[in-house]
Amino acid sequence: MNQVSPMLIAQVTDMHLFANESQELLGMPTMRSFQAVVERLEKLRSDLDLLLLTGDLSGDGTLESYENVQSLLCPLQIPTYWLPGNHDCAIAMKQVLNFRLISLRKSFERGRWNFVLLNSSVSKYMHGHLSATSLHWLDSQLKIMSNQPTLVALHHPPYHVNSQWLDSSTLENPEELFAVLDRHPQVKLVVSGHIHQEFHYQRNDVYYLGTPSTCIQFKPETSTFALDQKPPGFRLLKLYPNGTWETSVERVPYVVLSAES
Ligand SMILES: [Fe+2]
Repeated sequence: MNQVSPMLIAQVTDMHLFANESQELLGMPTMRSFQAVVERLEKLRSDLDLLLLTGDLSGDGTLESYENVQSLLCPLQIPTYWLPGNHDCAIAMKQVLNFRLISLRKSFERGRWNFVLLNSSVSKYMHGHLSATSLHWLDSQLKIMSNQPTLVALHHPPYHVNSQWLDSSTLENPEELFAVLDRHPQVKLVVSGHIHQEFHYQRNDVYYLGTPSTCIQFKPETSTFALDQKPPGFRLLKLYPNGTWETSVERVPYVVLSAES
């Protein structure tokens, strides 16, 4: 890779797959909508350098649900990294999502960027929290890694999205994360899942990106839970070796036919 060519990453998040491939989440057959996203990724395959799965890969935490993730992603043959969300079972994930190009690594370097993946899930709870151990590990990784631009990923966003019901389940201790990031100005981007919608937030020189789910979408800025009719999506990130980046959200034309149609 030369100095100017960027690396292309797809952030794919909140697939909510089940053991039963035809199970639906609020009327959405999650396996089929994820399949529609995978078909789009297949078309981009020759340009994609990496897939980043940012939690809630499963809706039921079963081994079979992760086998479904694996069986759809393996044929793409794109290096894939993942982190758990509140609906995941980290033990089952480690067992299954450790095959061929799907890696267990949570800290790595690629295309002159560093990546650090955090586990913000709290067993049996919907909200997120970064433990003292995770925060210390993040700090030590950022110290050890060279001064290359860095992307940090975690499932729960460390910011509010102006939706009361959803804001009660974001990251519980964002200030502790910010304290670490403030010590390491090479961190350029923080990407999250969980909110099932596109969102941008900026704090100091760091950009925080929220990304649509590959299944149901949450309606922005509502005080109580409401679904949005937007189609499933994912995020593309172009990361340049000099630390600059570009991003866009892609939607796939997947429509659930209602019962009366
Ligand atoms: Fe979540």
